[in-house]
Amino acid sequence: MLKILVIHGPNLDILGAREPKIYGRITLKEINSKLLKLAKEKKVGLEIIQSNHEGRIVDLIGKSKDKFKAILINPAAYTHTSVAIRDAISACGLPAVEVHLSNIYSREEFRHNSLIAPVAKGQISGFGENSYLLGLLAVLKLLGPQK
Ligand code: DQA
Repeated sequence: MLKILVIHGPNLDILGAREPKIYGRITLKEINSKLLKLAKEKKVGLEIIQSNHEGRIVDLIGKSKDKFKAILINPAAYTHTSVAIRDAISACGLPAVEVHLSNIYSREEFRHNSLIAPVAKGQISGFGENSYLLGLLAVLKLLGPQK
């Protein structure tokens, strides 16, 4: 079965309690359940990881090539700072889709720049948990029909 690596970056483990006016009340567990349900319908496998540590995310991406066909990532704050994650995505060669719960372009100026976007196939930003579901659908469209 085709497998996709899903990465949630820093502070997404505290969704639900974290700035609910911006991120809503949904928890990471609930987002993951929705992703897994959609993946099951589409007959693809997911491995879902959350980390607050840049190096761990870099390690995961670095080892992803043989096991996965694509990456769905919310790099969270590392979106705006991490050359290391950008380079890891670029080096691994897998197609990546970047997602954000909030619309990063309607927020503070420092969030308007994504270091990840130029090495991602595309970005979905601003649709709450649906950003992840749309992101997964985008990944599947990118990969095309699988035998
Ligand atoms: C985020 C947006 C980032 O700017 C922020 O640092 C996050 C979450 C989002 O999903 O809206 O942690 O990636």
